[in-house]
Amino acid sequence: MNNFTYYVPTRIHFGKKQLGHLVELRQSGTKALLVYGGGSIKRSGLYDQAIQILVDSGISIVELSGVEPNPRIESVRAGAALCKENGIEMVLAIGGGSVIDCAKIIAAGACYGGDPWDLVLDGGKIQKALPVYAVLTLAATGSEMDQFAVISDLSKNEKWGTGSDMVKPVMSILDPTYTFTVSKKQTVAGTADMMSHTFENYFTNVSGATLQGYLCEAVLKTCIQYGPIALEDPEHYEARANLMWASSLAINGLLSGGAEVGWCVHPMEHELSAFYDITHGEGLAILTPVWMRYVLEKDPSKTAKFAVYGRNVWGLSGDDAYVAKTAIDKTAEFFFQTMHMPNNLRAVGITEKTNFEVMADKAAVGSEGSFIPLTKDDVLSIFEAAF
Ligand code: NZQ
Ligand code: ZN
Repeated sequence: MNNFTYYVPTRIHFGKKQLGHLVELRQSGTKALLVYGGGSIKRSGLYDQAIQILVDSGISIVELSGVEPNPRIESVRAGAALCKENGIEMVLAIGGGSVIDCAKIIAAGACYGGDPWDLVLDGGKIQKALPVYAVLTLAATGSEMDQFAVISDLSKNEKWGTGSDMVKPVMSILDPTYTFTVSKKQTVAGTADMMSHTFENYFTNVSGATLQGYLCEAVLKTCIQYGPIALEDPEHYEARANLMWASSLAINGLLSGGAEVGWCVHPMEHELSAFYDITHGEGLAILTPVWMRYVLEKDPSKTAKFAVYGRNVWGLSGDDAYVAKTAIDKTAEFFFQTMHMPNNLRAVGITEKTNFEVMADKAAVGSEGSFIPLTKDDVLSIFEAAF
């Protein structure tokens, strides 16, 4: 196990009827920017409830609505400008990962003299940020409890992750009932996303991080158990609650600390989203089994790790080669049959390959230091196989 620093300053209020904790924003002042998406929080009634609590707490609100899935830099710029114009003291995100990510870079952009895109390209430039608060409405990214934000500039076909401890939420409200209205498509995409975060941590070359491995397996088993239940019965509290907490734990450093390697499926997916604006979790589900098979074929020494995955997560038995291969088949079966996810790139609207070369170039750089670092040709082969 490697040395690591684990720092999670986010106060979590988990469970039903936690919204009253919005009064805690008063610890940061009386002027908040409220950031939300395309209207799901208005349809669910959450918007009205939140506004009432904020007003009753003496907090005045400026709003930025319409944050897009795969949030755009234009929204970040607009939000940062609103903060500067209105003397905003904190940023409150109510929504999914896109809204929270956007709010994070708004909070940093509000304290930065230049263009917020600089902060996307280089998280090290985030030296100061307004306090970020979040009410999570979709279990997926873990943005509610991590330092990351992923922002797109679709005019340049660029989507990059950035991050800083400065933008870790001060407080996040995690009420699983807020996810009852999440569509089937986003429920399965969210489950695939948290599983992918876990895989990125689990398939590590660091030895001796046994506890982290077992924790990963627990998160994966939780997703495999409860994803299908949430799909069939959207208001199943236990399922939504377990998925929500799994989303936070998958990426808040608990699984990666001491076992950290570079990520490689995410850099490939971010290229798909950057060029084709697809749903993040769907791209990950399509790429993951393809990547697993590619790794196993390219580097047979990885068979043992896949066999551990097969035994501990899927309960398989047999020799390593059989268990490793079957575990990957089970993963594909889970995404594409049990969860009914699209199983190739054409199924999510990517009908031509013209951009694959340039996408592969960028994704290969992103995979440096991962379980097996991928060359441009490796990534191209994976895109081809996923097509
Ligand atoms: O915009 P609204 O109207 O709110 O609708 C959203 C959106 O259309 C809807 N939704 C959210 N909560 C809902 C709901 N609909 C009904 N009921 C609710 N309770 O769901 C749609 C998708 O929302 P979005 O926020 O885009 O989804 P998600 O949470 O999966 O976030 C995806 C973004 O996060 C990035 C992804 O790349 C992508 O841009 N990521 C962020 C990470 C991080 N911060 O650590 C890591 C991840 O790997 C990921 O890259
Ligand atoms: Zn992700």
